[in-house]
Amino acid sequence: MYKVTVFGLGFVGLTTALGFAEKGHTTFGFDVNHERMEMIIKGVIPFMEPGLNEALTRHLDNKFFLVENPIDAVRQSDFIFLCVGTPCGANGQADLKYIYSAINMFSDILNDGKYRVMVIKSTVPPSTTQEKVTSYLRERGLIPGKAFGISNNPEFLREGRCWDDFINADRIVCGVCDDKSSQMLQTLYREFNAPFFAVSLNTAEFIKYLSNTLLSTMISYANEMSKIGDVIGDIDIKDAFKVLHIDKRWGGCNMASYVYPGCGYGGYCLPKDTQAMYAASLEKGFEPMILKKVIETNESMPDFMAHKICKILSPSDNIGILGLSFKPDSDDVRDSASGKIIAKLIEAGYHNLLAYDPIANEAFKKDNEEFKLIYCASLEEIQKRADVLVILTAWQEFLNVNEIYPDKTIIDCRYVL
Ligand SMILES: NC(=O)c1ccc[n+]([C@@H]2O[C@H](COP(=O)([O-])OP(=O)(O)OC[C@H]3O[C@@H](n4cnc5c(N)ncnc54)[C@H](O)[C@@H]3O)[C@@H](O)[C@H]2O)c1
Repeated sequence: MYKVTVFGLGFVGLTTALGFAEKGHTTFGFDVNHERMEMIIKGVIPFMEPGLNEALTRHLDNKFFLVENPIDAVRQSDFIFLCVGTPCGANGQADLKYIYSAINMFSDILNDGKYRVMVIKSTVPPSTTQEKVTSYLRERGLIPGKAFGISNNPEFLREGRCWDDFINADRIVCGVCDDKSSQMLQTLYREFNAPFFAVSLNTAEFIKYLSNTLLSTMISYANEMSKIGDVIGDIDIKDAFKVLHIDKRWGGCNMASYVYPGCGYGGYCLPKDTQAMYAASLEKGFEPMILKKVIETNESMPDFMAHKICKILSPSDNIGILGLSFKPDSDDVRDSASGKIIAKLIEAGYHNLLAYDPIANEAFKKDNEEFKLIYCASLEEIQKRADVLVILTAWQEFLNVNEIYPDKTIIDCRYVL
């Protein structure tokens, strides 16, 4: 069994550390966010993820150890997993500052004679490991290959299902450039019942972006079609898409749910990853026109939805926003469509806004202090206090809101009613 140090204990890093612990490896976790570390030390998961609490209880101080200084952990580890954020940079490219700051923390000991594999699990555009990270290391006299290995291992988990997706992965993809790293990674993942692909560094990164940009493209396609339906008129958009999904060629697959209109894709991954792939290609001299339009369509959605709401409501109405997280079953509010649409409404002079999310009220309030919203603790409360309800996240709880409150005006921006 191996020892693994994980840098970054967010959705991906904490799941990775606990997931390897579950499979019998000893894992060490480190995060620069002290608040996050404090919560985890107390056995509390900093976000809502089914299965992670139980996994933390099973493994904390048993197979999974939090470390305040990661150097000792790295010294004894066979793997260093980088699971730090890779936010959107100024021109849309992936900002690698957290990757570099993590490397700086252990670079001094990479040449100490013990062979380790440094694994980039964070999402980075094709060619990043090979060109940018390797150059960064070389500039510091660190040559991957002999003293240590470098690889990447994109993560495909979905928020709200992190634990299950990690433990029951459908595929494990590792970008490698030397045999030793490749063999060690294969052994690390031996207990996972999933096909293992050892491919070139660039290919592994490319596979991750194939996945995320396809999802963005399907969503923008559906949103563009919904706009066409809207301008032509007398089209039941919801029914039209439901009928589309009956086509045998979909085979009842879950991917069909991405070909469905709404408020635009949001969350931490699809917006920044689509931008980053566009920027990475542009940097190499090819402008991807489909991705350009996918991004433009997505960016137009908050305006489109706000306009739809403003056409029906007046600024004096008390508007009850249903849903603040970027998708149901998650309390992640990063880049959520709700945030963007609320901003547009406020800009248009609509200030009587109430909001309710089954689990994300607190997270949204913390991230959007500038919005003066009245937060409600339940669906019952918001329907009592608001004149009109607007569905912005398709939580299960909202799917029959029209039947529970038949007299209420409801604007359904997710086409779920
Ligand atoms: N969230 C997802 O659904 C998902 C899915 C697949 C891949 N990814 C990718 O995985 C990466 C992490 O995503 P996430 O959602 O877990 O992010 P996150 O923001 O939840 O967590 C990242 C953590 O890294 C920490 N960090 C930053 N610099 C550090 C350093 N030098 N040392 C230690 N910790 C440091 C931050 O404090 C933060 O807690 C991103 O590249 C993302 O694109 C995310």
